[in-house]
Amino acid sequence: MTNKPEQQPETTAVTAGRDDSGALAPALWASSTWDTTDLDGTHAGATTVHGTGFYSRYANPTVQSFEQAIAKLEGTEAALAFGSGMGAIAATIFALCSTGDHIVAQRNCYAGTLGFLDGPCKRMGIDVTYVDGRNAGEFAAAVRPGKTILVMAETPSNPHLDVVDLDTLGAIKGPFTLVDSTMATPLAQQPCQHGVSITMHSATKGIAGHNDATLGVIAAEKELIDTIWGYSVLHGATASPFDALNGLRGVRTLGVRLRQQSETAQQLAEWLSTHPAIKRVNYPGLATHPQHALAKRQMRWFGSIMSIELCGDINDVRQLTQRLQLVRNAVTLGGPDTLISHSATSTHLSVDPAVKAATGISESLLRVSVGLEAFEDLRSDFAAALA
Ligand SMILES: Cc1ncc(COP(=O)(O)O)c(C=O)c1O
Repeated sequence: MTNKPEQQPETTAVTAGRDDSGALAPALWASSTWDTTDLDGTHAGATTVHGTGFYSRYANPTVQSFEQAIAKLEGTEAALAFGSGMGAIAATIFALCSTGDHIVAQRNCYAGTLGFLDGPCKRMGIDVTYVDGRNAGEFAAAVRPGKTILVMAETPSNPHLDVVDLDTLGAIKGPFTLVDSTMATPLAQQPCQHGVSITMHSATKGIAGHNDATLGVIAAEKELIDTIWGYSVLHGATASPFDALNGLRGVRTLGVRLRQQSETAQQLAEWLSTHPAIKRVNYPGLATHPQHALAKRQMRWFGSIMSIELCGDINDVRQLTQRLQLVRNAVTLGGPDTLISHSATSTHLSVDPAVKAATGISESLLRVSVGLEAFEDLRSDFAAALA
């Protein structure tokens, strides 16, 4: 059951996850453990699902404030935080899938997800069928009734900004559906409002938003979160209370940051599209994006991320990244600095060359995460570097 939020997400972002102490910022509960008066108290702590006051791997009050804020923003009953986005993906898959099970997953997505599906999942005997997320019907077509436990999508996708139709995905019955919504953040889209079972984020990115936290989170109905929590205390990819604090601080300003980043990204994408040194710009806000109409339907803002294809080869790519002064070479996204990264030799390095070729992770593809600098300064930096 989802609870449709009754106010605009940026308003919810300011108030959600607050306790009734009157404090406007959350307390930092650094404690890893809590004492009890007797054995009955310890037993109660050890047997309470997702309950605080026992041991921080089970639950922590600062982390719970962050989880409550994300659940409120996604309009779900509950949320569960992890030590990273990959921690969230790995724990969710292993909480739900066993040897002999089947997963349907989007081929064009973050390479860490692919690495987990092709590595540990395969090794554990979990079969994976890949589909092209741009044709949302392919997900349902690949489902094997009774065998498929999980259907996984990422929208917009990293690094191509492909958009998956959330209504079509949410209509799939039988397996759980999961959407990695990292590139959108809860301010731009809420997949569970489209019938998707689990929304996942690398909160390391736009949610925390300041390059100072490594954090993951999933949002879903309480029963499902409780099930995944039961496995997660054994998996151990626990969110740090320090990172949860930074995550919640990021949530407070996410509205104004993402609105501005989306506006600057739109301006930069339009300008780069007209530059003779650029072959192609992938940004869902561009009218030329093949799924622009779909993105417009299901996203409030188009987000801070785009990818560009440069005319030329790896030497031109190298020159561009060396010449940029304001724009920095780094692999995360969603923070205050505009970053450029070369997927083929960094985030997607481990992807099989044939898969890279099939999914367009070419030598000339660069991902750009647009930060909070003025558009004019970013344009000048790109203009000088591309000249
Ligand atoms: C779309 C997406 N999902 C998941 C992850 C993994 O997140 P983390 O680095 O927090 O483990 C990333 C990291 O870049 C990502 O871009």
